[in-house]
Amino acid sequence: MKPPDFELEEWFDEYETNVEINLSKGYIQGLGTSRFNTSIDKLEYAAPTAGDIELREELGSRYDRSPEEILCTCGAQEANLIAALSILEPGDHTIVVLPTYKSITNIPSVLGDTTTIELNPPDWEVPLERIVASITPTTKLIVMDNPNNPTGKYHEQETIESIYEIAASEDIFLLIDEGYRAIVSEPYDPIAAFGNYGVSIASVTKPYGLAGLRFGWMAANSHIIERATMWKNHTTISPPILSQQIAHQALTDQEDDILSTHRSLLDQNANRIKEFVNRHELQWHPSETSTAFVKIPDSYASGREFSIELVEKQDTLVVPGESFGHNQYIRIGFGISPEILEQGLGRINTLLNS
Ligand SMILES: Cc1ncc(COP(=O)(O)O)c(C=O)c1O
Repeated sequence: MKPPDFELEEWFDEYETNVEINLSKGYIQGLGTSRFNTSIDKLEYAAPTAGDIELREELGSRYDRSPEEILCTCGAQEANLIAALSILEPGDHTIVVLPTYKSITNIPSVLGDTTTIELNPPDWEVPLERIVASITPTTKLIVMDNPNNPTGKYHEQETIESIYEIAASEDIFLLIDEGYRAIVSEPYDPIAAFGNYGVSIASVTKPYGLAGLRFGWMAANSHIIERATMWKNHTTISPPILSQQIAHQALTDQEDDILSTHRSLLDQNANRIKEFVNRHELQWHPSETSTAFVKIPDSYASGREFSIELVEKQDTLVVPGESFGHNQYIRIGFGISPEILEQGLGRINTLLNS
């Protein structure tokens, strides 16, 4: 089976190790280990392999679910893979909402038929009538992310409620990658708290600045989690034990401190991005996360052309919108220090003025 292209990760691989100013990452700048207790007796498999029971109790309480309805994984990425494997049977159809992070779409599309629903600029609203019209007798799953990567849009609660009602009434699961949700200032309930048909995916990567831990989880009904646990035995068995220990601290005692620090960093940086796009009269949707999806001037043939010129002439990396199917856009990641952001915007400014 040919692996689908993943332009975003390929772009990172090509450029990010050699670039001076990196505005390409979607997550918040990494925390160091010094604030965490990292001492551990034995580097064994974590037991139980579904994840530490106390941690799953804590996570479960956020979804109004029991620990048996939570599975800890290696990042949201693994959770997205095994959730799709656990829900879909041969012949099942999936509705995918784009733009989004590629693996969310690619995995269902190698497992079966998919129909794509496009969010469109400038508001990136979900066209509910298109979802309804795309449902077939074999539709088993709707997948999307919320908040959205790359736009940073957090869909209105009523929109998500409507999609959930449409899905549940047709016996369809609604899987939402909520990896950015914890960074939003006033998040409403996650989808797994809506009922039996809701599946939530999340991780400590984005809001907590802990991408390198590779620690995430999924929340769903116990039947799905049972199947996902069987799939996990075939992928990574248990979560990495040291990552789990650090994630536990980040998600409990240290959570308020980490999230409030990161929220105020993003507020400050989002204001700076807003000034920048307004001054250059560029189109974007105000972001509630750490990424801004910005339309580039028509004088550039494509986001890729713009991004290559920026990296070659200004040693500054953003992500071409082509990675998300929108070739007149670039994605600017602003989960970085205000000083680095300032330098990066200065270089984009130089390119725009040249
Ligand atoms: C929506 C979304 N899901 C999943 C991932 C991967 O996250 P993780 O590091 O938790 O595996 C990303 C990374 O950019 C993402 O944007």
